[in-house]
Formats: sequence, structure tokens, C-alpha cells
Amino acid sequence: MSETKRIAVIPGDGIGKEVTPEGVKVLEAACAVSGRKLAFTHFDWGADRFLKDGTTLPPEAPQMLQRDFDAILFGAVGDPRVPSNQHAADILLGLRFKLDLYVNARPCVLFDRRLTPLRDRGEQDVDFIVFRENTEGAYAGVGGNFKQGTPDEVAVQEDVNTRKGVERIIRYALDYARRKGLKRVCMSDKSNAMTYAHGLWQRVWKELREEYKEIETRHLYVDTLVMEMVRDPTQFEVIVTCNMFGDIASDLGAQLSGGLGLAPSGNIHPGKVSLFEPVHGSAPNIAGKNVANPMGSALTGAMMLDYLGLEREAALICDAVCAAVREGKTTPDLGGQMGTREVGAWLSERIVKSGLAGAGA
Ligand SMILES: NC(=O)c1ccc[n+]([C@@H]2O[C@H](COP(=O)([O-])OP(=O)(O)OC[C@H]3O[C@@H](n4cnc5c(N)ncnc54)[C@H](O)[C@@H]3O)[C@@H](O)[C@H]2O)c1
Repeated sequence: MSETKRIAVIPGDGIGKEVTPEGVKVLEAACAVSGRKLAFTHFDWGADRFLKDGTTLPPEAPQMLQRDFDAILFGAVGDPRVPSNQHAADILLGLRFKLDLYVNARPCVLFDRRLTPLRDRGEQDVDFIVFRENTEGAYAGVGGNFKQGTPDEVAVQEDVNTRKGVERIIRYALDYARRKGLKRVCMSDKSNAMTYAHGLWQRVWKELREEYKEIETRHLYVDTLVMEMVRDPTQFEVIVTCNMFGDIASDLGAQLSGGLGLAPSGNIHPGKVSLFEPVHGSAPNIAGKNVANPMGSALTGAMMLDYLGLEREAALICDAVCAAVREGKTTPDLGGQMGTREVGAWLSERIVKSGLAGAGA
């Protein structure tokens, strides 16, 4: 019970440096209530460090993180002073690939009906999770340009799918449903048009679902999936898909459940150190103004705790965010008037109060 969880904190750039400290405070509050211990170690990888001494992701970092930490809490990277975005690619994509974080998990949960753009939909209607393959597909960086800059230019971007890659993400989604007692898993691809790449997804899907007879499995082409997510989101509990379609479908899911300021995500390799980050970027347009919504970082922290087996502490954070949204204790993106730090402080206080009340104090 007293085991300390070691957390590497990488705030990054822009609002990442504002929301991550609030995420940390909220995590500290949740664990203070239960007596669980978190030990945070901060890393300054980001644009400032890159501009100072050229460091992006130190070569020994992936191994060190793997060896010395239980999880990584990440902010966001991207800075207008680095137009190439080189440091951001090295740090975030470097960690995703070098730590082989093949699951991108994005929960889409509506905390308050006023936050969804869907008419006549309420909290119970949007509650699903998208699992996006995170290491291959169209984002594997395989391709090239031929005769660039001429009228005869050819651009090729390969969609790379391996048997191992497809199998492990589909299995993760099915196992997750089984573990959480969920009933419905939908696999989405475009196998009618991408017959080779997504033909593989079809074959693996049909094979694996036989092992999960208690789960209602369903396939939708991705164009139908996004239409159905808008028409009737209650159909979905777990969605699993490839890298590019997951990128798009999970952003749609984020909007259905309140927008970028609230959306958390996990980059996971089961059993190994995994990285948790809010879905939003570094938002240079609002950075340094104390207006960024820290709830995405707080919910990211909750997701990390859940992953580490601290479900009760995670629930305290989710309940506090839900209460803040209901009571209008929010930053301007959600219609409120509070600042980043004030929302962080409100959430921490709420967590401590409800935690003590729950313990009968
Ligand atoms: N994972 C990441 O680190 C990540 C993800 C996306 C974009 N980026 C980088 O971030 C930079 C900006 O990208 P962008 O503008 O396309 O996306 P962004 O997510 O940073 O911002 C998009 C819009 O949403 C708003 N927004 C985002 N997060 C918010 C929050 N917590 N509270 C209130 N408003 C919020 C911003 O003000 C902006 O108007 C770029 O350098 C991009 O490469 C990084």
C-alpha cells in the first residue's frame, strides 16, 4: 500500500508549462487524501532548453524513463520560435516510438450536457473510449517525393501495417472491454477501399473476436463510424482503429464531449512506462495569460492514476472536474471567468473536501 509511484513530469512548451503544474497539484491532492505516495521528477525538455543548448530528447532518456519511472505526465510541445518543430518531433514522437507506446487511448466522456454540440443529448449519451494504433499506419513516415517542385512531382506516403501491430492494438481494446466489464467493441477501417492494408485488419479482427464471445463485436467503415458517432453516440463503448482514423475519430469524440480543454489521453505500452498527456497542443495564442484550461491535464492525471491501479484517487479527480463544470468554476473556453491557477486550486480543494467526507471525517 505504501509503494511510491515515480512520475516523470515533462511540461514542454506554451500552456504545457501552465497546465501541468496544476495537474500535479490535483494529483497531489488526490493522493494526499488516500495516503498514497507520488514522487515527481521534472524534466525541462522543450523549446527553451533547445534554444539554449540544442538539447531535444537526450539519447539516454528513453532507457532512463523506462528504468526509473512508473509513468510520464506530459504537457505539450510546439513553439513559434522553432518553426521547424524539430524539438517537438524529437521529444514527443521520439518517446512514442522509442518507448513503443502502441496504444493511444482517448476517453470521450460528457460531464455536462451544456458542453456538447449535439442537440438533445445528455451526460449518459457520450461515454466511450477510442483506441488508436500509435506506432504505424500512414504516420510511420515511410514514403518520399520524386521530381519535387516540378509539374511531374510524385508524392508517396505508405500505410504500414504489421500483423504484430494490428493484433496488439485490437487485443488491447478487447482486453480493456473485458477488464472494465464493457459489452460493445467496434473496429473501424476502410477495408473496402484499402484492400491490402485493411484486409489485414479484417482478418486479424475476425480471428481475435472469436476469443471474446461475451463481447458484442461490430465493424464499421470509418466514414460510417464518424456519421454514427454524431447521429447516435450511445452505440459506442470501445472503438479501435488505425493511426490516422483514430486521430480523426478521437478529435471528433473530444468535441462531442466538451472540446480540447477537457480531453485527456494516454500513450500506453502495457506493463511498461507509459506517457499521459492532454490532447491539446501548446496553444501559443493564449500561453502566459493564465487562461488555459487545466482540466485536460487534471483528467490526464486521473487516467494515469487509473492506469497505475489508483482507481479511487482517479475517481476523486473526475468527480471534482465534473463538479467544477456543473458549478461554472471554469476558464473562459468553457464559459467561466477563472484563471488556470484558480481552477487548479479549486479542483485540489474540492478533492480534499470530498475525499475527507468520503472517509467519514
Ligand atoms: N501533443 C502535443 O504536444 C501537441 C498537440 C497538438 C499541437 N501541438 C503543437 O501546439 C502548437 C499549437 O497548435 P494548435 O494551435 O494547432 O493546437 P492547440 O491545441 O495548441 O490549440 C488549438 C486551439 O485550442 C485552444 N486551446 C488548446 N488548449 C486549450 C486549453 N487547455 N484551454 C483553452 N484553450 C485551449 C487554443 O487557444 C487554440 O485556439 C503547435 O506547435 C503544434 O504543433 C502539440
